[in-house]
This record gives sequence, structure tokens and C-alpha cells, in this order.
Amino acid sequence: MQTDSSFTFVLFGGTGDLSMRKILPALYEAHRAGGMLADSGKIVAVARHIADRAAYIDWVNEHVKPHVSKNGVDETAWASFLDRIEFVKIDLGNPEDFTLLRDALSGRPGIRVFYLATGPSLFVPICRALASVGLNENSRIVLEKPLGYDLKSSNAINDAVGEIFAEEQIYRIDHYLGKEPVQNLLALRFGNVLFEPLWRREWVESIQITIAEELGVEARGDFYDNTGALRDMVQNHLLQLLSIVAMEPPHSMDSDSVRDEKLRVLRALKPIDPRDIGKVAVRGQYHAGVIRGSAVPAYATEPGVKPDSNTETFVAVKVEIENWRWAGVPFFLRTGKRLADRVAEIVVNFRAVPHSALGASALRGGANRLVIRLQPNETIRLYCLAKQPGEGMNLASVHLDLAFDRFFREGQMEAYQRLLLDVINGRLALFVRRDEQEAAWRWVEPILNEWATANKPPKPYAAGTWGPAAASAMLAQHGTCWLEEEN
Ligand code: BG6
Repeated sequence: MQTDSSFTFVLFGGTGDLSMRKILPALYEAHRAGGMLADSGKIVAVARHIADRAAYIDWVNEHVKPHVSKNGVDETAWASFLDRIEFVKIDLGNPEDFTLLRDALSGRPGIRVFYLATGPSLFVPICRALASVGLNENSRIVLEKPLGYDLKSSNAINDAVGEIFAEEQIYRIDHYLGKEPVQNLLALRFGNVLFEPLWRREWVESIQITIAEELGVEARGDFYDNTGALRDMVQNHLLQLLSIVAMEPPHSMDSDSVRDEKLRVLRALKPIDPRDIGKVAVRGQYHAGVIRGSAVPAYATEPGVKPDSNTETFVAVKVEIENWRWAGVPFFLRTGKRLADRVAEIVVNFRAVPHSALGASALRGGANRLVIRLQPNETIRLYCLAKQPGEGMNLASVHLDLAFDRFFREGQMEAYQRLLLDVINGRLALFVRRDEQEAAWRWVEPILNEWATANKPPKPYAAGTWGPAAASAMLAQHGTCWLEEEN
């Protein structure tokens, strides 16, 4: 996409993990691709512990370059990318330092983007300091997750930021919304007539959405131990995926049409009765185990984690949507660290045929199922029954396969690259609106409260497995099982 709109992209937390692994590499890719970023666009990194621009460029060369481009670094593009980078040394604890930033930005053309790649406790102080030097005009602010710790703290941040920036200036990132396959889900649902008539309670028996990770908490033990999987993954990524799977067709793809429809789903989530939490939500914590042949330690022994921690590294939860399209259809959401595989997928289980003239095998599982694999290896697979060759009417499960890399060999874009370009170009559709975020917090809150007050340890699971047995038992009660348990 060609652009001539100039911008200044100000990166708070310029030496943080996110800047190093995601944000700067994504900006480099956009720069390298050519034509996506205006030539005059600049990146202004803000950090406290770095002396000056030369030292920051050294840091970028040492820490960011290794995270850039799977296909190797294009040295010419890298050098011209570095030319875009400027640096301002600011102590965020010292609001007067923001005059330095104001001076550095004065007289620049185009929009200002302030990316807060910092902890949420700094969001409000940074916004206030920006406003105190008049930098909240002609600007956009990007807030990383987690935004708050619960509904109350998220409201407090949104209220305070909302006094300084209008909602149209606020870009709340959920990087799952920037993933190519998630975009494709919209194309699949609303670009084809085939699925829509079946996409409802009359034909769908249950839906599973899984985001499984092999990684543990890595260097984020401290953060994670105060967060847990429900806040880290369910409140945002999984409920966003759910809302895209379940939403009504939007009137158009403009930002508010899509977000209005997602909001309707989030508001229709059946509230969980605290007395039922044991039946509809499972939480687990990994113990030592083996992943792909290597021994990995227990969560409780990871750096930064309290040895007696009750924080969950796994959640499985049953969700129901109270509307005409989905009433009575269970949606099973699941996420966990140190699971048997890294996979994110959506499984739509359609109902079996009501009567089989073809014998009992036509009523078996393994057919009437759509599996949308988000990562790795993006594919959409439709499982059907077919007759096995030979004598008699013996049926077998076969699938129609749509592997995206066979159709589209290039042009794939990482989530952060898409989202950063959207911020620079003022496209809000893939960012979470305040009301969506509130509805999601409201729904998870009874589970958070119950788990906090019950003070019971999460169910253990060995690293390298698919989580606690209770997650399987929950599906068994509905006469179904997780996809991998069928194979
Ligand atoms: C982040 C979570 O939002 O998403 C991490 O904070 C998690 O804990 C990550 O590992 C997963 O994202 P992806 O894109 O690797 O599936």
C-alpha cells in the first residue's frame, strides 16, 4: 500500500522486550517492503538508561537486528531504516523531561503516534505528561495489553486516558486481531455464501477455540505470576476470536460496524454463576515434564515465580452466547503454556446427519467439521465423509484442504506490521474499543474473583501434555472431546 502521509512514531519503552522482538522488527519490515511508510516518517525512541542516539543505535544493532526478517537482513534497507531512528532520553518519573520530547517533535509534519510499550502503571502518567506539554493534539496513542488487572483498574485507566485523548485517538492493541488468518476468518465467513446458512445453532453442535503454546513463561515470570492465563489470553485474544467467529455479518468493514457486531457478542455472553465455576472452568498449572525430548522445569520453579504460586498457566472454559443464532451451543475455549504442541485453531463441529441411510458409520465423528488452523501452517480444512473404494458402502473421513501458502506465496504480513501500519494510517477496525474491553472484563470477572477467593491450587499437569484431565472431562459431559483426543 503506497502512502505519502508523514508521521512521527514515538516509542516509549524503546529498550523493552516488545520493542526489541516485535515493534522495531515490524517497522523495519514495513520500511524494507518500500512504499508502506512515508519517506519522511521518523521513529523517535524514548528510554531512560541509554545515553544518546549513537548508544541507542548500537543497542538496536545488537538486540533488534537478530529478530529481523526470517529471510536475512537486507543491509542497505537496514542502514536506511536506522536513519529513520532518533532518540530522546527521558526519565518517565520526571514529567519535566517531556519538554525535551515536545522540542524534539516541534514543527514536524504529519500525525504523531505514541506507542506505550510499557507496563500499564505508566499509561496514565505518560498520557498526563504528554498533555502537559500539549502533545495530545494531532496524535494517536497505542496501548499494549494488559490494560488493567480487572474491570475496575481497566476502567480507571480508560477514564484517565479518555480525559486526554478522544476514543478515536486510542488504539488498544490485541495482536491476534492483526494475524492474517484472523482476517481470513472474516473473508471466509462473509465472502462466501456457503457457510453462512450453516453457521448457527440448527447446524452447529459445538465450537472449540484453542491457543496452545509450547513455551513456558520465559523471562516474564514476574509479570506472569501476577497475571495468569485468564487475564493474559482469555480476556483478550480468546474472547476476540470468539466474537469474530460468532458475530453477525457487519454492514461494512469500517471500524465501527465490525466492532459493534463484536460487542453484541461480548454482551450476549451468558454470565457465569459463581456456583457453577467448578463445572464450566478448569485452571491448571504445569509441573516438570518433557517437550520434544527436552526436560522442562515446573512453573513454580521458574525465575520470578513464587514457589507456592496459585497462578494458572492453563485455562479451559465453556462459554454460551445468549442470542437466537447461538443459544445452547457450547463454545469451549482453551489456552495454556507448556502444552504438547504450539497450535492455534478453531474447530466448528457441525451436527451429525439426522438419519443415515448409509449405516451407522455415517453418524460417526471425523466428518461434518471445519478446522481453521491459525498457526502454524495456516489452513482451512473441511472434513466430510466419502465412500471407501471397493465393495460395500464403507465410509471414511476425508478432507477438503485450503493451505494458504499454496495459493499465496508472498505478501504475508506479521500481525504487528499490519497493526502499526493501521495506526499510522488511522484505521481503527483491528483495535479494541473501550466498550468491547469492558464487556470482556465483565464476563471474566466472576471467574477471577472465585479463583482468587477460593484459594485452591490449580490442577497440575505435566509439561508437554494437553493440560489437566478435568479439561477433557468438561467436554465429555457434552458428549464431545478436544480435537487431538480423536486422533
Ligand atoms: C501474548 C501473551 O499476548 O500472546 C503471551 O502475553 C503469549 O503470554 C503470546 O505467549 C502468544 O502470542 P502468539 O502470537 O505467539 O501466539
